[in-house]
Amino acid sequence: MPGPLAYLNGEFVPRSSATLSVDDRGFVFGDGVYEVWRVIAGQPFELDAHLARLQFGLGELRIAPPDIVERDVFASVAKRLLGASSLETGEATIYLEITRGAAPRTHQFPVVATRPTVYAVANRFEPPEALRARGARAITTADIRWLRCDIKTIQLLPNVMAKQAAAERGAMEAFMIRDGVVTEGSHANVLGVLDGEIRTHPLSNLILPGITRAVVLEIAQSLSIPVREEAFTERDIARLEECFLAGTTADVMPIVRVNDQPIGSGAPGPITMRLFKEFRAHLDASCAAASASP
Ligand code: PDD
Repeated sequence: MPGPLAYLNGEFVPRSSATLSVDDRGFVFGDGVYEVWRVIAGQPFELDAHLARLQFGLGELRIAPPDIVERDVFASVAKRLLGASSLETGEATIYLEITRGAAPRTHQFPVVATRPTVYAVANRFEPPEALRARGARAITTADIRWLRCDIKTIQLLPNVMAKQAAAERGAMEAFMIRDGVVTEGSHANVLGVLDGEIRTHPLSNLILPGITRAVVLEIAQSLSIPVREEAFTERDIARLEECFLAGTTADVMPIVRVNDQPIGSGAPGPITMRLFKEFRAHLDASCAAASASP
């Protein structure tokens, strides 16, 4: 077996020897965007939706889109990365990062146009089923991020600090609070069940438009579970009947305690687990269908 590969600027190289310029603006300024796909049996889930979000981010940052944003190019890069790590079966993720490229350090865009840096890798993934069965814990923390959280930039320091604070308190996620409302988590969207309705922050500049969130809301609607895209407040947390995360690596993850507050019965809630079951079935079915189509 050839061993794990990285895709870097059009070439496949052994992952252990992939190197970047120290002048890369991703390294120096966090000047770039990324995506993470869930992969089942070699097929990236919601391939087009992630590419569309990536293209949106590149457009907002005025980075010229490299050819990896084209469906066929991405699909063939993904296939080769997965194949090199024997990930055509089972579960995996693909990470793709695009930065503005390497140039001498100036805050404004480089005068001479740079070639964007493109980096992608595939990793084996094991869904956290034991945690899901008992339910995860979360903490709350101030949302100190900038006002363009709808762009999936590689500048993740507030998310890193939030997640570290959670980890230090034995929690899986940090709910970020801005102006008294729950915006989202450090690496997933946050949804609650309040008065029988699913509640979550509406799409705006203050949250990432999560692809899992969108799929879960569609599933909820198809099951006639009421959905209201209206944020719940920090004070509402004590009144939540259920709470869960939605994200590429979380799927649907029940949250059973926030700080010292048990949520509902303190065990994964019935709506949450129904949504998880349906989401998981949809994830498997849509990847199987993609693999069956030419
Ligand atoms: N995180 N909100 C934030 C801040 C995120 O970083 C993510 C994803 C989400 C969920 O989006 P999606 O359902 O499209 O994955 C919401 C990825 C997985 C990460 O940073 O690893």
